[in-house]
Amino acid sequence: MTILRPRRRETVFLTGVHGFLGQHTLRTFLDESRCDLILTARQDKLLYDDLAREQRIAAYEPLDLADRDRVRDLIVRYKPDVIVNCAGVVNVDLAETQRETAWKSNVRAIEYLIEGARRVDARIVHLSTDYIFDGTKSPYAEGATPNPLNYYGRTKLASENALKSSGLAHLVIRTSMLYGAEVVRINGKKNFVLETLSKLRKNEVMNAYTDLAATPTLIDDVALALIRAVELQKTGVYHIAGPELLSRYELALQTADTFHLESSFIRGTHFDPSKETGIAERPRSIALVTLKAQTELGIKCSGISEGLQVMARGLQNIAEIKNLKVYE
Ligand SMILES: NC(=O)c1ccc[n+]([C@@H]2O[C@H](COP(=O)([O-])OP(=O)(O)OC[C@H]3O[C@@H](n4cnc5c(N)ncnc54)[C@H](OP(=O)(O)O)[C@@H]3O)[C@@H](O)[C@H]2O)c1
Repeated sequence: MTILRPRRRETVFLTGVHGFLGQHTLRTFLDESRCDLILTARQDKLLYDDLAREQRIAAYEPLDLADRDRVRDLIVRYKPDVIVNCAGVVNVDLAETQRETAWKSNVRAIEYLIEGARRVDARIVHLSTDYIFDGTKSPYAEGATPNPLNYYGRTKLASENALKSSGLAHLVIRTSMLYGAEVVRINGKKNFVLETLSKLRKNEVMNAYTDLAATPTLIDDVALALIRAVELQKTGVYHIAGPELLSRYELALQTADTFHLESSFIRGTHFDPSKETGIAERPRSIALVTLKAQTELGIKCSGISEGLQVMARGLQNIAEIKNLKVYE
């Protein structure tokens, strides 16, 4: 006879909780899992007043992942089962010019997390990007050969390689052009759909590339996939991305349509990094094959019109949460 024992509640050490994915991952962990959470971000305190009484948030700790000793000390103190790394420098153009900063946050950080994880035998879940590929052989399955075109992509590939050679149990989720509602934005750029909304609502011109295409991915889907993968104790690489390959111009038009905004302010432009200062090279057209996540995690990402509807509801919910700064 098999005796089924309830699995022990796992403790998750979550980094970058004020970032776009971090904030969604945190809330999805609370809604969809039984895990206890240790939260970290660079800010002095947790910015979500509505979560102040949440029993499963065991602690919040300010943490700069470039601080090797503090990363190690906190991991040893809390002995998490899983470290989920949602932090990093994600602004592709910034990473190109501020290379040392990008390397510290994207590569050194994961090396320090690996050192900490090794001491307590934790597994690591890490986020990566379609930008490790060059777009010439799209669509890409998990085992395809990488060839990043920009420095951001190189840092993300280096972080994947650090995990691969660590010998630790680890999971890498590669995703693409995230969009969705945001509760806070401290630094960096709004996601493309929010930027479009913000411009169109003010009747400002929104320039959007007609020849730069990717698979826009609803942030809620990535957060859910991540939580499923953690609970199923998955390891290896998974691609999580939306089903449609869309240029930024097409995405801006879809956004205007869903939110009933005037689309004549959207201007199609050509992507030519050689003619624009501060713009890094990018794959012109890139899609990820997501069959593995569909079959093994049961995750099928939302199509763009469904995803934008979910986002619209998310923005409404955020507006109802008191004491939060809302960006739309
Ligand atoms: N956004 C996308 O379209 C996209 C696409 C593919 C893959 N991804 C991957 O998804 C992950 C999350 O991206 P995101 O969109 O959530 O980015 P995000 O909104 O910019 O959040 C990243 C967070 O990381 C924090 N951070 C950066 N360096 C840090 C450090 N040294 N120590 C501690 N925290 C640090 C930032 O904190 P501060 O606010 O203090 O700077 C920020 O809150 C990244 O690994 C990214 O590569 C994103």
